[in-house]
Order: sequence, then C-alpha cells, then structure tokens
Amino acid sequence: MKQSDLIGLFFVGLGSAAGLAHTFTGPASPPPDIRSVSALSPTTRDLELGEDLEQQLADELASLFGPWGSPSLTQTPFSSVDKEDEAWEEAASLYARKCAHCHGNTGTANTTTAALLSPKPRDLSLGIMKFTSTPIGQSAQLSDIERVIREGVPSTAMSGFSALSKEDLRAVSLYTAWLLFRGDTEQRAAKVLKTRANGVPEIVARAKEDAQKSWSAEPLQIPENLLAPQEGSAARGEQLIQSPKAGCVGCHGNDLSGKGLASWNHADSEWLLRDVWGNTSRPRDLRHEPLSGGESAADIYRRIAVGIKGTSMPGVSAQLSAQEIADLVQYILQERRIAR
Ligand code: HEC
Ligand code: HEC
Repeated sequence: MKQSDLIGLFFVGLGSAAGLAHTFTGPASPPPDIRSVSALSPTTRDLELGEDLEQQLADELASLFGPWGSPSLTQTPFSSVDKEDEAWEEAASLYARKCAHCHGNTGTANTTTAALLSPKPRDLSLGIMKFTSTPIGQSAQLSDIERVIREGVPSTAMSGFSALSKEDLRAVSLYTAWLLFRGDTEQRAAKVLKTRANGVPEIVARAKEDAQKSWSAEPLQIPENLLAPQEGSAARGEQLIQSPKAGCVGCHGNDLSGKGLASWNHADSEWLLRDVWGNTSRPRDLRHEPLSGGESAADIYRRIAVGIKGTSMPGVSAQLSAQEIADLVQYILQERRIAR
C-alpha cells in the first residue's frame, strides 16, 4: 500500500471516529443568536471594530440573511433557486445533523471534533471555497459545492456524502451556499468598516452586491480538444514545469515531491506556506498523492488554470496558453501513471 493511501485511511478512520463521538455526545451546542456579536466570524472579531460597529454589522447581516436554521429563502447567490420553506428547514437540519459537528453551527469550524483533525474542517465563514470551476477571483458555483459534498476531499476527514438523495444533497448544498455567501458578505463589509466607521447598512448592501457578482461567474471553459493525448505534449510539459516561466518547482520541488525552496525549510524540516485560514499549506506531491480537485485531465487542467482559492497555489491562465497548460496536464498524468 502506498504511503498516501495510509494517510488517507488514517484520516478516514479519524473522521468516522469523530462521527461516532457525535452519536454519543448528541448535537453540537446551539448556534448563537444571529443578532449577537458572537454570531460574527472570529476573523471579523479580530479586526476589533468596536462593540457598537460589531453590533450594527450583526444586526444588518441578520436582517438580510435571516437566522441560522431558517435562513431567508432568497438569500443564496444562485438565482435559479426556488425552494419551499420546509425544504429549507430540512436543509438546516441536515446540516446540523451531518456537518455541524465538524464545520460548526455557524460554519466557523470551532468544534471539539475540528480541533482533533488535520487538515482542519473548512471555516466556511470566510466565504471561500478552495476547489471551484470558476476563473481566478470568482467564487464557486452550486455544482462545485455539490461536487465536494458528494465526493468529499481525498485524504482528509471530509468523506463524501454519496448516500444522500439528490434532493437532500441539493438542500444541504444550498445551506452551505447560504453560509458561504453570508460569510463572504460579512468579510467584505468588515474590511470596509475597518477604514470607514459609519453607514453600516449601505456598506453591507454594497458588500452583498459585490459578493453576488463574484458568485455568479460562468465556469472556466475547458479546451477538451487539447486534452486528448498528443504527440510530444508530455515532453513539452516536462520542460515547461521545470522552467521559471511556469514557476511550479519553487513550491512543488524539482522532483515534484511538494518540497520546493519556497514551501519547505530543509534545515528545520518545516512547511513554510500558510493558507488564508492560517493552516499549514502543503503543495501536493504531484506523482504520488491523490488530487483533491479530481483526477481527470479536465480536473487537473482546471486546477492549474484557476488555482486553489485561499491557498498559495496560483492560477496560471493569464501567464500560460491553453496548449501549455494542457502539456503540463499530460506530463503530470504520465508521471502519475508511472508512479502507480
Ligand atoms: C468529520 C468531519 C467533517 C464532516 C462531518 C464534514 N466535513 Fe466538510 N470538510 C472537512 C474537512 C477536514 C475539510 C477540509 C479539506 C481540505 O482542507 O481540503 C472539509 C471541507 C469542506 C468544504 C470546502 C471545500 C472547498 O473546496 O474548499 C465544504 C464546502 C464542506 N466541507 C462542506 C461540508 C458539508 C456540507 C458537510 C455535511 C454534509 C460536511 N462538510 C461534513 C471535514 C468534515
Ligand atoms: C506558491 C506555491 C505554488 C506554486 C508556484 C504552484 N503550486 Fe501547485 N500547489 C501549491 C499548494 C500549496 C497546493 C495544495 C493546496 C491545497 O490543497 O491546500 C498545490 C496543489 C497543486 C495541485 C493539486 C491539485 C489538487 O486537485 O489537489 C496541482 C496539480 C498543482 N498544484 C500543480 C501546479 C503546477 C502545474 C504549477 C505551476 C504552473 C503549480 N502547481 C505552482 C502551491 C503552489
């Protein structure tokens, strides 16, 4: 068995142990009143806006987005959503039963289970999804959220919920979207409030509009015709991946092990990069480790083109041509086949 499989098993084991613990200890403590400042994300509290502004921000968010458990129906970023009240109630209770012991009732992942896990469950209150199909700078689509819930993230405690019915998957995805969208709006508004301490309703409304734009992006077009194996493509990809133009090896290492000069301190055996959640961010071993965003040529293309949001893995669609990215994909696929 490969080392990566063992790591995967370890985390899956922990994940199910956490699930069991949940069964025995009952549901997580109830979420704070949505109008209290403790309903704000810890990241917002860190900005130290002052109690008065924090209270105004919490009130404004509460009136726009509705309470935990029965969110305001229209307040997801996805215009196609048309849901009955009961379905939303079901969405909230599904989230509370299946997700809250790791991600927390308010999405901040401040739970006892989360403290045991590495990597940590995502703090959804920052409003950022790592694996999206949308261009650089744009937020996820509903299908990205559904995909990660259905399939999980390999080698982490986030196992896939493939047993959920189609309706339940959609319901819990919408609830997740609501948490993320609310979080995104809060983060944008809080940053502005740090420099301008008045006009809270306008600032929050504006932040929500900006968030809405970023959550309505079209997916990146994948040039399927370039992804079929082509003569010489993998060899070109090998040259390119080692070149300063692509800039991959600084993080992924000349040997693609994930230990590059920018990411690994050889002297102290320490990972150097952090993600926006403050966690250690380890570049993937491109030969041996499972890929979190999917293993197909199109998945890898998308990942290299748009990057992994909230982490230092950049999207290179502006620097490299579609053909060049396709060459990198063919090279990585070839190396993964050889390593298997
Ligand atoms: C046993 C703990 C656990 C449970 C239960 C769990 N998750 Fe996760 N979740 C995680 C971990 C760990 C990650 C982070 C993986 C990583 O760092 O890539 C994660 C990541 C995510 C992400 C972020 C994906 C991205 O692209 O950034 C979403 C969204 C998510 N989970 C939603 C859910 C939903 C919805 C449920 C319930 C149906 C759920 N999770 C249940 C542990 C859990
Ligand atoms: C500044 C550092 C950095 C650079 C430069 C970089 N990467 Fe990454 N890469 C990362 C990190 C960090 C991750 C893992 C992020 C995570 O999942 O949390 C990653 C993950 C990946 C993955 C795994 C995706 C998945 O689905 O799990 C691929 C493939 C990848 N990088 C390819 C590349 C290629 C090709 C280049 C050059 C064009 C490149 N990277 C440049 C830091 C970097």
